[in-house]
Amino acid sequence: MTDPIENLKKEFENYIVPPSWKDRVWEIEDFRKFREDILKDRESLEKWWEKWANEIFWFKKWDKVLDDSNPPFYRWFIGGETNLAYLCADWQIEQGRKNKVAIIWEGEPVDEKGEPLEVRKITYYDLYRESNRIAYMLKEKLGVKKDEILTFYMPMIPELPFYMLAVQRLGAKHSIVFSGFSAEALAIRIMDAGARIVVTSDGVYRRGKVVPLKPIVDEAVKICEREGHKVEKVIVVKRAGNEISWYEDRDVWHDELLEDISGNVEVECVPLGSEDFSFILYTSGTTGRPKGAQHSVGGYAVHLYATMKMIWDIQDDDIYWCTADIGWITGHSYIVYGPLMTGATSIMYEGAPNYPDIGRWAAMIERYGVTIFYTAPTAIRMLMREPEETFTKYDLSTLRIVNSVGEPINPEAWNWYYKVFGHNDAVVTSTWWMTETGGIITGHFPGLGKITPLKPGTNGFPIPGINVAVFDDDGNPVEPGKRGYYVITNPWPGMLMTLFKDPERYIDVYFGKYKSKGWYYYTGDFAMLDPDGYVWVLGRADDILKVAGHRIGTAEVESALVSHSAVAEAACVGKSDEIKGEVPLIYVVLKKGYEPSDEMVSELKKHLRSTMGPVVASDALITFVDTLPKTRSGKIMRRLLRAVAEGKDLGDITTLESDVAVEEAKKAYEIVK
Ligand code: WTA
Repeated sequence: MTDPIENLKKEFENYIVPPSWKDRVWEIEDFRKFREDILKDRESLEKWWEKWANEIFWFKKWDKVLDDSNPPFYRWFIGGETNLAYLCADWQIEQGRKNKVAIIWEGEPVDEKGEPLEVRKITYYDLYRESNRIAYMLKEKLGVKKDEILTFYMPMIPELPFYMLAVQRLGAKHSIVFSGFSAEALAIRIMDAGARIVVTSDGVYRRGKVVPLKPIVDEAVKICEREGHKVEKVIVVKRAGNEISWYEDRDVWHDELLEDISGNVEVECVPLGSEDFSFILYTSGTTGRPKGAQHSVGGYAVHLYATMKMIWDIQDDDIYWCTADIGWITGHSYIVYGPLMTGATSIMYEGAPNYPDIGRWAAMIERYGVTIFYTAPTAIRMLMREPEETFTKYDLSTLRIVNSVGEPINPEAWNWYYKVFGHNDAVVTSTWWMTETGGIITGHFPGLGKITPLKPGTNGFPIPGINVAVFDDDGNPVEPGKRGYYVITNPWPGMLMTLFKDPERYIDVYFGKYKSKGWYYYTGDFAMLDPDGYVWVLGRADDILKVAGHRIGTAEVESALVSHSAVAEAACVGKSDEIKGEVPLIYVVLKKGYEPSDEMVSELKKHLRSTMGPVVASDALITFVDTLPKTRSGKIMRRLLRAVAEGKDLGDITTLESDVAVEEAKKAYEIVK
């Protein structure tokens, strides 16, 4: 196996300039200077962000750009008032985009020729009207007030952005739970947010089948009730027409709620201040409990606006498509809020990339003349197994920027993406960021008029106004080409405000590691810088997996398994996978009286599916051991289990309690690999 780091180092001097950009290239030195000028002192940094903030709409301008009086609780644009719903709808109409298409939605089902059966083109005016109607309904019929949190468990249908904007309009907040999560995961998130209203749909089309969603909500609500939390209303959007159970006094159809509300009601858009937040989004951490990343209004908006301009170079005639699910941060920021607040036309697709065949995305790019495309490396690696012709038979020449996100992209996948989707002329970057950063942190910046040369697999540079570093364990910078811990060294507008209801954990998780050195945001990733200063993120440094770009905490997987009556202990690590990046590899110790068997594997997978959902369960590898390798103090040595799975040298094992467990793990691994 080639060492992934060596593989990347080969690319350090592989400078690629798309031909149409050849006269618009930064000298790396000049770009460094440009960035340094912004970062050189507080005044220039504030001026830079203020320039972006001045381009968006505010009910009231800020008094202060950055309040850092209580680190690490940074607040941006203090005293300013704005609202994401206003930015995404009202303000667009004011700028003359009333009849411009905001969202092109394509449903999954196709006719016999492979043409989509349902396409909805939603203008900014439609968006305005629909979100106003919903806001009115929520307020007048269900009594939703400012600051209330609603949970959405919804598929990729236009009603999801409608509800998002409706909630923002009222100054209420949303917590969106990815619709691939299980009832249990959903219940935990409903209860943590204290949501009394859940919005869902009957089902959704996926790979030609109807996947029911409502039953999962029913189950989640039951769990909530058992735990003493009451969900008062479940709003159901009719999508797939599948049969569902109905609870008279709790369930209500979206259509019926809106029936008597006219198309032109208007609800005042509540100005939100910078101490306010816009939404929470739960994400995995290294302990079992998911963390509610709490995002701001003004800072978040400015960050998205600036990245839509710098990274995406968004223009009025662009057709922009991000293939993520809105249930993840990528969808929040770059399907809904970012594109809409910049007046873009954003594509939303309901279904699977390989339905009715693997050419679906390419067909859609041709159908709508997509100019900007954003997807995950896993998807690219899946597509690249097919002959290029599968995709190039469609017209992909409109694409001018094609980026990826979610996990490292290997140079081979990058090259394929550049060649096939980018027709050897598009700007291609692996944009690095995370749920907590709110928006993109690194990339290339066609929107600044010039780009730094591309390199296959790189994450490019931190966006001007943000700086990063790679540290060793003690917080000293690591030299170029060496692996270290990836940190962000200064606050940025899109950063999370805190963890919902858990400020201590916020300080601890993100700022604890280098506390003695100052306020450095610890990302949890490994990275290296190259001699030119390009960033190369290598993967997670902690117990978090990225499975097909989905973020999964190993502790969550373990506690899910241990909740099965046959399981005494479980340890989950990542096993590298050619397509998915990583898959969960789980070592299970059974309780006395239970025997390993294929049936037990299926039983545990079933359990995993019902507790964690299909993303984790479908790829999980389960194997059995009698003991797990532990330190003398009883901590599971996941590092060893990982090394076994990677066929690597085990390194220092002097703290290991007994090496029997390692031998066992090796044998168990042979069975599943
Ligand atoms: C990983 C997704 C390498 C990284 C927006 C990070 C990446 C985690 C990249 C956050 C990239 C994201 N190259 N790794 N371009 N983008 N990651 O919160 O490990 O789902 O810490 O946010 O994804 O995942 P999250």
